[in-house]
Amino acid sequence: MSKIQERVFSGIQPTGNLHLGNYLGAIKKFVPLQNDYNCIYCVVDLHAITVWQDPAEMAANIREVTAAYLASGIDPKKHIVFNQSQVAEHAELAWIFNCVARMGWLNRMTQFKEKAGKDREKASVGLFSYPTLMASDILTYRATHVPVGEDQKQHLELTRDIAQKFNNDFSDRIKELSLGEPMKVGDETVQGYFPITEPLIGGPAARVMSLRDGSKKMSKSDPSDLSRIVMTDDADAIAKKIRKAKTDADPLPETIEGLEGRPEADNLVGIFAALTDTDQASVLKDYAGAQFGTFKPALADVAVEKIAPIADEMRRLQADPTEIDAVLKDGSDRAREIACETLADVKEIVGFVGARR
Ligand code: TYM
Repeated sequence: MSKIQERVFSGIQPTGNLHLGNYLGAIKKFVPLQNDYNCIYCVVDLHAITVWQDPAEMAANIREVTAAYLASGIDPKKHIVFNQSQVAEHAELAWIFNCVARMGWLNRMTQFKEKAGKDREKASVGLFSYPTLMASDILTYRATHVPVGEDQKQHLELTRDIAQKFNNDFSDRIKELSLGEPMKVGDETVQGYFPITEPLIGGPAARVMSLRDGSKKMSKSDPSDLSRIVMTDDADAIAKKIRKAKTDADPLPETIEGLEGRPEADNLVGIFAALTDTDQASVLKDYAGAQFGTFKPALADVAVEKIAPIADEMRRLQADPTEIDAVLKDGSDRAREIACETLADVKEIVGFVGARR
C-alpha cells in the first residue's frame, strides 16, 4: 500500500430519517462508481454521536443505512460496506490529524456553526473536530475520490488541506522510508503519502432542498415530516408529500434560466431529473408550460417507481438483521486490513517506536 491507488470512499451518518437528499446526492452516485473503482462505503456511527443519539435507536439506524446501501445496488462482496466504530484506526488517525489541522481551519467550518447554533459553549468537542475524523475516514484508505452532496464541500477542502500539510511536514521522512510518491505543490515537489482527494459533487441533485421551503436543504433534523421524503415512505406518503410541496403559481418555464428566482420549482425539476438520470433542461423540454397540477403527479409517479422497490428491499433486509450484520462484520474485517497498513506507515512516518512489529 505504499503507492497511492485510485479508490472511492464515502460515508453516511446513522441518525435516522434517511431521505431523498441522501439518496440522490450520495447513495445513487455510489452505485455506478463500483464499475470503475474499488469502493468503500461506511456507516459513520462515530460521527453520529457528535450530537446526542439514543443508544436504543443506534443499532436500528446503523442497519437502516446499511440496508439502503445494499437495496440501492451496492455489492458488499466486490466492495466494502462497514461501520466506522469497528475499525479503531479511524479514531487513531483522527487524533494525529487533530495535531496537523489548525484551530483556525476548523473555526471556519460553516456546518459546525449551523449545528452548534447560538450556544457554542455547549456543543461537544467532537462536533468541533468532526472534520478531522472525516479526513481520517477518507485518508485511512488513502481514497482518491469522494462522492458527496454539496454540503460536504468545505469538509473535503479541509481534508485536502490536512493531506497537504501532512505531506509537506513529513516529506523528507516519507522519502527516507520509501513510501508514497512525488507530488507537485506549487513550484515544489514533495514526497506525498496521502492523496489530494478529488470531491465528486454535482448533477441536478447535489443539493436537494426542503419540500416546504426552497431556501433550506432537505435534512434529517427538519421538524416537519412534510419537508422530506424518507426512504421508507410508502407510495401514498410519497404522493402526499409531493402534492403538498410548496410551489409558486406559474407554469414551468422552457429553459433553466426561467427557474432562476423560483427555488421550489428548481428543486422539483432537479429531483425529477436526478430520479430519471437526465438533466433539468431535458425535463423542461417535456414539461415546459405545464402547471404543477400536471407536473406533481408525474413527479410522484417517478418517485414511487424509483424509491418504492428500494424501500421494499430495505424493509426485507431490516426485518431480519442477520444478513446486514454479516455484511458489516465482513466489511469491517476487510477495511481493518487496509487501515492497519496505513496506520503502521503513518506511525513510522511520525516517528513512533514499535509501529511495525
Ligand atoms: P450526512 O450523513 O449528513 O449525509 C450523507 C450524504 O448525503 C448528502 N446529503 C445531501 N445531498 C443532497 N441534498 C441534500 N439535501 C443532502 N443532505 C445530505 C451529504 O452530502 C452526504 O454525501 N460528514 C458526512 C458523512 C461523512 C463522510 C465521511 C462523507 C463522514 N465521513 C467521509 C464522505 C467521506 C455527513 O454528515 O453526511
